[in-house]
Amino acid sequence: MQQSAAQAPAGAGQGSSAALWRLLQAAAETVQSVRSGHSATVALDRVEARLRPGAQALSFQALRNLGRAQALRQRLAQRAPPPTADALLCTALALCWTPAQAPYEVFTLVDQAVEAAKRSAAAKGQAGFINACLRRFLRERDALVAATDADPVARWNHPLWWIERLQQDHPLHWQAILEANNTQPPMTLRVNARRTSPAQYLETLKATQIEASAVGEYGIVLAHPRPVHEVPGFDAGLVSVQDAAAQVAAPLLLRGLDLPTGPPETARLRILDACAAPGGKTAHLLELADAEVTALDIDPARCERIRETLARLGLAAHVLAADAREPSAWWDSRPFDAILLDAPCTASGIVRRHPDVRWLRRPGDIAQLAAVQAGLLGALWPLVKPGGRLLYCTCSVFRAEGEAQAQTFVAHNKDAVSRPATGHLMPQTGVKADDVPDNLKGDHDGFYYALFEKNPGGGPAGQGA
Ligand SMILES: C[S@@+](CC[C@H](N)C(=O)[O-])C[C@H]1O[C@@H](n2cnc3c(N)ncnc32)[C@H](O)[C@@H]1O
Repeated sequence: MQQSAAQAPAGAGQGSSAALWRLLQAAAETVQSVRSGHSATVALDRVEARLRPGAQALSFQALRNLGRAQALRQRLAQRAPPPTADALLCTALALCWTPAQAPYEVFTLVDQAVEAAKRSAAAKGQAGFINACLRRFLRERDALVAATDADPVARWNHPLWWIERLQQDHPLHWQAILEANNTQPPMTLRVNARRTSPAQYLETLKATQIEASAVGEYGIVLAHPRPVHEVPGFDAGLVSVQDAAAQVAAPLLLRGLDLPTGPPETARLRILDACAAPGGKTAHLLELADAEVTALDIDPARCERIRETLARLGLAAHVLAADAREPSAWWDSRPFDAILLDAPCTASGIVRRHPDVRWLRRPGDIAQLAAVQAGLLGALWPLVKPGGRLLYCTCSVFRAEGEAQAQTFVAHNKDAVSRPATGHLMPQTGVKADDVPDNLKGDHDGFYYALFEKNPGGGPAGQGA
């Protein structure tokens, strides 16, 4: 929706009355930081708190259109101005190149981008240049856009290697994936099954005039995002924020899993969540099962986030900061009934939530992360008890981190049997659920799931188990 006042976007700015030129400066600094190889989250953490929601909304929109903006800038000026001015110019172009999607009237954006340059020590010498480029863009928009249409990076707003990799991995659906990646994701909640149900919670939302719909088994999509502390019941642990594709993990791991035999007080499932932080899936496991869960993560600071997640929800797990690849350092030798391995990955399935990821990754990252994932799978498989299972997942759409990884694993582990799982889930905006196969209905990120069961009869290389 367009606005004409030079104020922060109402939804994103949460009442902030910061001038638009100031928000554009902060958004351009974030874009520049991503262009120099740093995550948008780190750059936004440096932005003054009152400006942050508005700066995030503008920089995320700019990052979703950065390929087009950079191609337009090249048409307007073959030689880039110094980095601060270039970031401001590209941010303004990214925000106003399609007037229907511009967050403000395009003339307001241009005016305020020039103001931002004038008030910036590093860009004020370029204010006239930025003004000239942007005014020319407004005059010649259609011709300039048409001239950049043949460039795939401008067309799809992803690096060329990424586009080519998707073409190779998903020859029928690469365009749908790229299109979904460029949309703004919804705010999706997971209801705490110990406390409420999706139907009950939808009634609670209706009573407070909050528009929402159900997705998957436990998910609720809000029609309009809102700050978490304004989500009814969030602070009290009724719901958590989690994309619908990520909500597949806990039920998939638990469904059909036999409870261990023995006296009721000891007959609890032993589950390892091997890459657990910030604890979203750990919490879902505990909401659904009365289990003894070990939540492991290599990063001690991120382990704190697991503890916070569990505390808000009133749940308990054994939280450990350790390297899952080295069980000898932390494992008590008692096998697990089930292991969840939500492995580190390129995050290529969640680029609509993290629009900087596509610009930060390098082609070599896929093979490097696939090797880490294979190392984790190899280290954790011996910890699964015979008849137990391991759920492998990544928030990636690249086959090397999904299907190919799972196929290699089964080929090298004779005691691993593939069980039905969702395989590759493509990111979905909720509009095209029927066009792309293997998808949940509704709106969700891209993910991959493979479930392996340990054959009690056939140990590794026929050793028995
Ligand atoms: C995709 S995130 C996990 C998200 C989490 N499962 C959730 O649902 O909230 C991957 C995590 O793996 C952790 N990690 C990476 N390498 C690891 C290793 N060798 N051992 C344990 N954790 C590791 C990272 O610190 C990161 O927190």
